[in-house]
Amino acid sequence: TISEITAWEALDSRGKPTVGCAVRLDGGAHGEATVPSGASTGAHEARELRDGGTRYGGNGVRTAVGNVTGPLADAVRGLDATDQQTVDRALRDADGTADLGRLGANAVLAVSVATAIAAAAARGLPLHRAVATSDAPPLLPLPMVNIISGGAHAGRAIDVQDFLAVPLGARSFAEAVEWCSRVRAGTADVLTDRGVPTALVADEGGLAATLPTNRAALDLLVDGIGRAGLRPGDDVGIAIDIAATQFHHDGRYRLAAERRDLTAEELVGELAQWCGAYPIVSIEDALAEDDWTGWRHATDRLSGRQLLGDDLFVTDLARLERGITEQIGNAVLVKPNQTGTLHDARSVVTRAHEAGYATVLSARSGETEDNWLADLAVGWRTAQIKVGSTTRSERTAKWNRLLRIEAELGDRAEYAGRAAMTPT
Ligand code: PGA
Ligand code: ZN
Repeated sequence: TISEITAWEALDSRGKPTVGCAVRLDGGAHGEATVPSGASTGAHEARELRDGGTRYGGNGVRTAVGNVTGPLADAVRGLDATDQQTVDRALRDADGTADLGRLGANAVLAVSVATAIAAAAARGLPLHRAVATSDAPPLLPLPMVNIISGGAHAGRAIDVQDFLAVPLGARSFAEAVEWCSRVRAGTADVLTDRGVPTALVADEGGLAATLPTNRAALDLLVDGIGRAGLRPGDDVGIAIDIAATQFHHDGRYRLAAERRDLTAEELVGELAQWCGAYPIVSIEDALAEDDWTGWRHATDRLSGRQLLGDDLFVTDLARLERGITEQIGNAVLVKPNQTGTLHDARSVVTRAHEAGYATVLSARSGETEDNWLADLAVGWRTAQIKVGSTTRSERTAKWNRLLRIEAELGDRAEYAGRAAMTPT
């Protein structure tokens, strides 16, 4: 039973305030969590509450912290912490709005996650076991790892937000991480040879190189994979997060770096050309968040690849349902803070799997040193995970937790590998 909730203002990896929360249960078990925050956020996401005013440039979260210890604590005190669904419903009801904007999705998620961690502690289980259904064995996810960053995470050096390595051929999670670390180092070496400085990293730890075109970034990544002694395509595929909402203006897609202004059809045509020239296995947010027509076109034209909806679905069951009905995309990015509670995020994973959509659990560009996301991926069997690059501690916190879980499971560790990606 939940007995006591405390909260505080903490900092995320961009130095922006975020909500920390500790939940104590009657038996003395305790869990605490801090929550992440996006930069290229979708319009349909749950709403963070920020204080405004002058502290931290208006980004303070003291009001959200007060909502945790006030109305949200009142709503869940006395509830059974192991009943996540009831706790999360009470949190949602206490807020009363669809986007959790009244008390703040940042406040709500902090309580939701800290409760799950406390409940796992009370049961003496690792979090990944506690969040799993009883008959589902743990599954180590296939990672997609940020190597080159652009968009809102790197001062818009290039239009496409993420160029990621997908270690398709690796046989374990540990090998997958080693390969991706090598690809990052290999890519940095290629830049160094060209006289480009590589010390600057973007928000998610990727290389923040200024490149003339998006294709130049793809060329660079292919070279980096080769420099790492791995085969582009066979060993390591490429995933891209276009984050197209970010450069969609007045119905057109503006590739600023290339000084081109494209229609949805032209953008999809461009992506199809990239797919012909590079080993691209996954494309995220190829079109803007409300461009369902463009997405329809992309789903037809770019078939044979994972088409992943982030801003499109925003971890929202109703938007995913529309996607399933209209057969748009074939994979969902799942970010717990887009919806605000663990129960709702989990429902999206379950529904996606039922409908044959792949799931990728994802961190945000503003993260914390917490590692609970890793356990969710394993327990929920999302089969894929995206947390940024292999540098910066808020990223390695998640990789390191997965490495530890795999080591602990030993021979019993099941690794999703290449099969995680739809379609293969
Ligand atoms: P965000 O970016 O956390 O800044 O929204 C992550 C993504 O777009 O996948
Ligand atoms: Zn995205």
